[in-house]
Amino acid sequence: MLRDRNILLGVTGSIAVYKSVDIARRLIENGAHVMVVMTEASCRFITPYLFETITGNQVCSDLFRDPFSHINLSKEAHLFIIAPATANTINKLSCGIADNLLSNLWLTYEGPALIAPAMNFRMYRNPIVIKHIRDMKQAGVQFVGPVSGSLACGEEGEGRMVEAAEIVEAAVAALSKKDLAGQNILITAGPTIEPIDPVRYISNRSSGKMGYAIARAALRRGADVTLISGPSHQEPPAGVSFIPVERASDMEAVVVKQFKKATAVIMAAAVSDYSPSDIAEVKLRKKDEISLKLKKNTDILRELGKTKGRRILVGFAAESGKDIKSAIAKLKEKNLDLIVLNDISRKDAGFDVDTNVVTLINKEERITEYPVMKKIEVADIILDKLLEIGAKA
Ligand code: CTP
Repeated sequence: MLRDRNILLGVTGSIAVYKSVDIARRLIENGAHVMVVMTEASCRFITPYLFETITGNQVCSDLFRDPFSHINLSKEAHLFIIAPATANTINKLSCGIADNLLSNLWLTYEGPALIAPAMNFRMYRNPIVIKHIRDMKQAGVQFVGPVSGSLACGEEGEGRMVEAAEIVEAAVAALSKKDLAGQNILITAGPTIEPIDPVRYISNRSSGKMGYAIARAALRRGADVTLISGPSHQEPPAGVSFIPVERASDMEAVVVKQFKKATAVIMAAAVSDYSPSDIAEVKLRKKDEISLKLKKNTDILRELGKTKGRRILVGFAAESGKDIKSAIAKLKEKNLDLIVLNDISRKDAGFDVDTNVVTLINKEERITEYPVMKKIEVADIILDKLLEIGAKA
């Protein structure tokens, strides 16, 4: 999404400038061209040389060095990020005051903009600042943060700039096409865990990476996303409605409740097929041999398939090998519109890796095979297919 995009990164005078260095680095890593514009105050915190080394471009800060930089830089930019944005800069930009290169560029810039405020909590709750932020939001400027936390002055409060990763994610979202706007997508992810006693459980090796990647991609593309996840170390993307669950029966209850408002469901979770028939209330004592009696859990997707209506249902088929026959059987049995077959026997696919190798099979049994891709790329191709199915329906 950021490849070959020109990003103007405005840096103003706040202690949070150290995070801007990380923002610039991450944007470059993602293939963007980054031009940094610094205010005089920000140069007191950090030297332009650091940004020049990271971006490979000269930092601009002097309005009078090049008579047309205040026009040319903004003309070429696809996105204008100001991070950190001080209260002073926000108030000036909102009023249209143009007294340095950054604020002049703001007046000549016509594309999407992202502002990450950083200030003391007393400044952030000042009615003047509140008014200007509200005015800018109404004019279509997107704000990311601030968050509550410890501030540079040693106090706690709302005014801390969000982390670089979140700003870069917001940048990707700002530059993404919003072709899923109006969709309400329900996504399940991760494993479920089935308790045996208060300390032990049965589960599986799902990390949740694939489901979380789909949630992130859908959010970037403008969908309302509900992510229902079993225990996972993944961070839920900012902006999803996140519902953590543990057991398959919990997941079933939440999915059924959320299903009503969904336009599409993507079941990426590795739901436990069985759970212990009896859960011991106290910890079981060690013996030479034990046997566990298991009962079958409800197949959530199969149940959804019975009452799907106009909703689009997408399932996953985790198979040891490229078992197209089994995937098609699951597609039919569960009344799905699309099934994502992944061969979990491969090292570059399946559980706990950042890549996947998938084969997509639609209702008409059209099979499309893909090479090894990052999970976030796989997420986009699944969402492309979902749109295609929706367009035909
Ligand atoms: N699934 C579900 N509820 C279950 C089991 C699976 O909703 N109790 C969903 C999964 O989220 C996935 C699809 O059904 O989208 C297929 O899951 P998979 O584990 O591949 O197949 P199963 O139907 O469980 O069959 P098997 O384990 O025998 O391969």
